[in-house]
Amino acid sequence: MIIVTGGAGFIGSNFIHDWLRANHEPVLNLDKLTYAGNLKSLANIEADEALKLRYRFVRGDIGDRTLLATLLAEIKPTAMINFAAESHVDRSIAGADEFIQTNIVSTFNLLEEVRAYFSQLSASEKSAFRFLHISTDEVYGSLSEADAAFTERHQYAPNSPYSASKAASDHLVRAYHHTYGLPTLTTHCSNNYGPYHFPEKLIPLVIQNALHGKPLPVYGDGQNIRDWLYVADHCAAIRAVLANGRVGETYNIGGRNERTNMEVVNTICALLDELKPRPDGQSYITQISFVKDRPGHDRRYAIDASKLESELGWRAHETFETGIRKTVSWYLANQAWVESISSGEYQTWMRAQYENAAS
Ligand code: NAD
Ligand code: TYD
Repeated sequence: MIIVTGGAGFIGSNFIHDWLRANHEPVLNLDKLTYAGNLKSLANIEADEALKLRYRFVRGDIGDRTLLATLLAEIKPTAMINFAAESHVDRSIAGADEFIQTNIVSTFNLLEEVRAYFSQLSASEKSAFRFLHISTDEVYGSLSEADAAFTERHQYAPNSPYSASKAASDHLVRAYHHTYGLPTLTTHCSNNYGPYHFPEKLIPLVIQNALHGKPLPVYGDGQNIRDWLYVADHCAAIRAVLANGRVGETYNIGGRNERTNMEVVNTICALLDELKPRPDGQSYITQISFVKDRPGHDRRYAIDASKLESELGWRAHETFETGIRKTVSWYLANQAWVESISSGEYQTWMRAQYENAAS
């Protein structure tokens, strides 16, 4: 069995679906169920007699060392994949406490317990075990339009409390490999999008606001660039790194799909105009609203995934155009999921973040 942490979040839940389709090995999902964790994203596994035999959920914190020690001793996992984190830049700007606690302190606790577990494995179990840490391209900082894309050798220069906390966890993971010989792998992906994405992030937020006749908030001049990675391509990359990645190495994962935020928002509006036209016949583009910029807003991220492509033969299958069409269609077909996770906490965040934001 493998253990996935943060498996009730956006990428983690997609990964569990992907893993159960691609492998026979069972998976245990350890998740604290913060506002971003939603068991509804895994409901079709619980509802499937065959799949649920290979899936187990445990509610808990990656910083809870007693729980971790018990689970590791009982499960004897062959791998742990650490998705659990506080992940939203704007929330880290509003208040970073939870980011420091989960992304740094709790990740340290997790590493300590995994180290203790690893130390008592047999030689053959040790050689099979992997700890895969999911990091982000944001640890590399911001690029100008002329700069080359991030390689794995790019210097760390995190700019937000979120990326700084992720950078700190990466350094701990690196140190646990170097110092204690823990067989770690670290991946740096670009912005993911796809099903089960919590509607506080740009793409699902724009889809939802458009459908509800609300403003589509574009920060600053809308010319910031992100490199979009369809989440299923990301999941396939993680499986490739886990299976064949070289221990102690880091791998960048990106879709080679750089788009400005305005291009992203315009594309979503055009797709909605086609798939779910507004009753008044107007384009969703009329709902775009430029709002105050994010403080310290990174201008551009771009990933050079050559190492992953050449060493492990991975390729992104989706272009932005094919992936965003699938994503918009998924949201249109799964409004019940969105409504079910749009809790009071979500409403409170949206009011606090976007009230008085019009520039
Ligand atoms: P998410 O916010 O959707 O989900 C995070 C999950 O972790 C939630 O289910 C939450 O309940 C759980 N969690 C939070 N704190 C926990 C704790 N202390 N113990 C146990 N569980 C806890 O995040 P995501 O978008 O799925 O991102 C997953 C990982 O990928 C994160 O590490 C993030 O930094 C990284 N990442 C995400 C993106 C992206 O575009 N979404 C890009 C680059 C890197
Ligand atoms: P986001 O989805 O929060 O991801 P990240 O900050 O990790 O890249 O934001 C993606 C881009 O969209 C980023 O440049 C900020 C911008 N953005 C908006 O313009 N409006 C919004 O309401 C949000 C949430 C983001």
